[in-house]
Amino acid sequence: MTTDSMDELFVEGLQELYYAEQQLVDALETLADQTDDEAASQGFSEHRDETREQIERLEQVFEQIGEEAQTKQEQVIDALIDEHEQFAQENDGDVLDRYNMGVGQKTEHYEIAAYGNLTSLAQKTGHDDVADTLAETLREEQDALEEVTEASEQFDQEEVAG
Ligand SMILES: [Fe+2]
Repeated sequence: MTTDSMDELFVEGLQELYYAEQQLVDALETLADQTDDEAASQGFSEHRDETREQIERLEQVFEQIGEEAQTKQEQVIDALIDEHEQFAQENDGDVLDRYNMGVGQKTEHYEIAAYGNLTSLAQKTGHDDVADTLAETLREEQDALEEVTEASEQFDQEEVAG
């Protein structure tokens, strides 16, 4: 695959993120159902709702730049989801809970990197209004990371104490 302009790089990044967010709605639903830890489970289901809004926000972005909202397969997200599915088949209880929190952190780090890059590329390609929209989602992803990290740290402290 050759990408011969910054504009294309920007649009392809949006398409990958549009794909990733759609996969994450279902993945977050699974994580919420599967995780017993209350704080983490609630965080997953709140972020699933937030993710639905982020998908709509990406659709707005496509409209703002005059591109059709299209997905492009993102193998990084597929791999994270596949790996999780396999682990969940073979493990349960506290170990699965703790693993799920790690998965949540990994996906948020991925999204933070992706939205951070696209916010910057939006500015570079002359779409300042779009950059603001993407930065809004970036802040939500940072909050979501903080939340799941706190839940995991809390969980680890309880384990030590217990
Ligand atoms: Fe997201």
